Amino acid sequence: MKSIIRSVLALCLFSPNVFSQNALFIPDTLSGTTFNLNVQNGIRQFVGTNNSPTYGYNGNFLGPTLLINKGDSITLNVTNSIAQPTTVHWHGFHVAPMNDGGPDQIILPGATWSPSFKMRNEASTFWYHPHGDAKTEVQISKGLAGMIIVRDSAEAMYNLPRKYAVDDFPLIVQSKSFDLLYQFAVATHSDTVLMVNGTRDPYLQVPQQVVRLRLLNGSADRTFNFGLADNSNFYLIGTDGGLLSAPYLTNRVRLSTGERAEILIDFSSYTLGTQIYLKSYASELTRGIIGADSVGTSTIVIQEGYYANPLNGIDFDLLRFDVSPATASPVTAIPVTFNPKIPLLEVNADVNRSIHFSPDTALSGPQGYVDGPFFMNNVSFNMDSINIVVNLNDIEIWSLTNSTMVAHPFHIHDIEFFVLDINGLPPPPEYQGLKDVILVKPNDTVRFITQFITFSDPMVPYMYHCHLLHHEDDGMMGAFLVIDSTTIGINENNSLADNVKLFPNPTINSISVEFQNGINFSQKKISIINILGEEIYSAQTSENKIKVDMEKWVSGVYIFQIQSENKVINKKIIKQ
Ligand code: C2O
Ligand code: CU
Ligand code: CU
Repeated sequence: MKSIIRSVLALCLFSPNVFSQNALFIPDTLSGTTFNLNVQNGIRQFVGTNNSPTYGYNGNFLGPTLLINKGDSITLNVTNSIAQPTTVHWHGFHVAPMNDGGPDQIILPGATWSPSFKMRNEASTFWYHPHGDAKTEVQISKGLAGMIIVRDSAEAMYNLPRKYAVDDFPLIVQSKSFDLLYQFAVATHSDTVLMVNGTRDPYLQVPQQVVRLRLLNGSADRTFNFGLADNSNFYLIGTDGGLLSAPYLTNRVRLSTGERAEILIDFSSYTLGTQIYLKSYASELTRGIIGADSVGTSTIVIQEGYYANPLNGIDFDLLRFDVSPATASPVTAIPVTFNPKIPLLEVNADVNRSIHFSPDTALSGPQGYVDGPFFMNNVSFNMDSINIVVNLNDIEIWSLTNSTMVAHPFHIHDIEFFVLDINGLPPPPEYQGLKDVILVKPNDTVRFITQFITFSDPMVPYMYHCHLLHHEDDGMMGAFLVIDSTTIGINENNSLADNVKLFPNPTINSISVEFQNGINFSQKKISIINILGEEIYSAQTSENKIKVDMEKWVSGVYIFQIQSENKVINKKIIKQ
């Protein structure tokens, strides 16, 4: 463990601001191949001298930055020392579902969870946070979040700033709400307290050279539209899953919750002592995005809270940079290109799927106001259900459509994806790299392409969900399995199997089976086998139609097997 000098001395040559500012806290780092994280209680003062109860990893608030090398086999020991169950999700990591830290990998109070896996993602900025069923917002808001920096040899070839806290800085940007007792509040629109790395009104001394900033929006729902106070350009070099094909010159980077961006700012163009703010230009956010001047329809009274928040729709400061002397051997130039990112080709897709966002009209009214609840494909998350089953190695196109009045940042576990198009148009440069979160605005259609490689598990699902934490907690989430049909003996493509019709499939309560032409064995043995290979149903029949009650079975994949004489047909049934 490497300790970082956190306190930065203010140089007297800089004129003091009218209100007091605080040196930006920079989290310590953990590196190596074994990482120990303790989920603990804390107390911090965020509003005056009032104590607020917090959570943190290895401290009071937030957690250490994990430095991980691609290819390493790592173990993370997570001990839960708080009084409620938690989970830790490695947001963006390509790991097996049992190591993913979703709602199924609960860590009870007092317990330690120790996933081990190989680091397969390419160099980028990731993060870790809790993902408990309906508990995500309260735990993240109280402080459970940390950054992860993955490094690899491809990224190391470029002359980029990568000295942590010297020319490469983590910036976890969050807005928080507090109640009257100074406790963190959730599901409000009064997130008026801004913080970067848990520091309010922060300043950071930056060397007068090219500096890398790793931006993470770790808020519950607010989108930030980052830019410099003088509107000057900077370079976007990386998005959620890795470097872009080339640095992209821009003066804005919009991040919805869960998204990350790496930017380079060349501070050598500023004189020593310059103070310049990183701002959020929220006045420029499109309506419907949380943080913009308007969401939903303005006639619904429940939105008073949203409109009362002074941050919505205005431009505000996030962090002051104080330009300080350059370091020894600074990075002075910006690379022209990186390794090209070549998206998967649409013609190679095996499956097309649609995910449709809609309001729960029974609970939220016909249009659905900003708070939901919201559905994905007309259902709410259920811990016991599987919503989608993907075949290992399939290339899939997912089409996301939003029929609600608010923008939702869609996130999927397991893989990174390439955006194919947004409303039929090719993605802008900032969305041409690898992504795992994409903001879908009202009435938008966003299509992405990805391949579900490496991991399959017939029992443990991955999640896809809205990364607005209140929406996620309220059920705007689904579960998907990646299954390897070759290892569970499914021969659905042979022509005999085509004559066995199973419906509905996927099913909820029961499955009907019809044996059509070509299957005229007089006696058939029918078995249903679960994923552990256990026969859980069997019957002999001479009928051509049967129906099996599946109501009490757990969600997942089952094999429906028909045997007669020397023929065996296996078919897959999905119970939701
Ligand atoms: Cu950052 Cu499923 O979450
Ligand atoms: Cu995730
Ligand atoms: Cu949402």
